[in-house]
Amino acid sequence: MKALCLKCMLLALVFCCCMKGTTYAQEREKVLLDSDMVEAFDDGFAMLLLAKSPKIDLVGVTTLSGNSWVEQGTAWALRQLEDAGKTSVPVAAGLEYPLRPNRHDLFELERKFLGRGHDLWTGSFGLKKPASWQEAYEKSYGSKPSIKPVDKHAVNFIIDTIRANPGKITIAAIGPCGNLAMAIRMAPDIVPLIKRVVYMGGSFFQPGNTTPAAEFNWYFDPEAARIVVRSPIKEQIVLGLDVCEKVVFKREHYDRLLKSMGNHPMRNMLRNSFAGQSFEKNPAFTFYVWDVLVSAVIIDPSLITESVECYIDVNDQFGTSYGQSLAYPELAPLGAQKARVVTAVDAERFWQMLNAPELWQQK
Ligand code: RIB
Ligand code: CA
Repeated sequence: MKALCLKCMLLALVFCCCMKGTTYAQEREKVLLDSDMVEAFDDGFAMLLLAKSPKIDLVGVTTLSGNSWVEQGTAWALRQLEDAGKTSVPVAAGLEYPLRPNRHDLFELERKFLGRGHDLWTGSFGLKKPASWQEAYEKSYGSKPSIKPVDKHAVNFIIDTIRANPGKITIAAIGPCGNLAMAIRMAPDIVPLIKRVVYMGGSFFQPGNTTPAAEFNWYFDPEAARIVVRSPIKEQIVLGLDVCEKVVFKREHYDRLLKSMGNHPMRNMLRNSFAGQSFEKNPAFTFYVWDVLVSAVIIDPSLITESVECYIDVNDQFGTSYGQSLAYPELAPLGAQKARVVTAVDAERFWQMLNAPELWQQK
């Protein structure tokens, strides 16, 4: 009799552990990060937050040109995952160019014709295209990587991942929308299967940063951004410049971050980055954190303190408003979809999250 009771108790214990394990696995938010990757700020930190959070299952990183050429972004994504001890996260390389032809050839003329925004950043528009991600990796690190991208284009990786996880994937879209637009055009069936998209993009109630009308990500490929935001995705949350330019990155934040990072390899990446160099030269320099806010609000949605529900759209007509993001409280153009446009976050708690010791522990 006693042996039977013991067996029943053991079985119950095993069952609970299995359920606990299943519950734990179900609780982690599955996130696919689509990024025009850079080292450290801002895409690199956005990826690190997701990769290290116990609440997140980072199912993959898809890269494309924007801040950087896709070859550079792929190399920098691989390296930062190696440094974070997250080499199991798959990386898939994506679009090299925006949908509209010859944008890189015409960029300087565009800025003369359309006007220049308050941010001089030109991303890959101003960079020489590497021959391959391997060349970009060896140029940046002088060594060969221990990992490589998956042998699948980012667009196919997105389609396959969404289909394999119906209703479960949050897409963090922190660069131009080319990969997502091509995935939606190639496989419209994935749209209702996407749990939600959280974007860094657009500037709805204030001027753009790249042209007076447009923010960089959506200016880089307005046609793609319009395709995605006009898709009937269950939930769209947008962090535009409206909130991103309220969280000002100052020297005091930089100094605190360097302390928190200890001897993490990304500390040198930060110091050698445009932001780090600028802070070191000019203590009064200020920057923004843009994409890192997207990861932060996915990890802790309570960081969002203010937002507006509205219909959104992107102007893809080549002219002075090319790439402009538009918000309509009602009476929107046919086809525009509803979104939650974030207008404020809890900056103090965000900085606490970014300085958390567990984020910078080397595993
Ligand atoms: O306008 C800011 C956006 O452009 C950020 O995503 C930054 O990484 C760049 O891609
Ligand atoms: Ca970005």
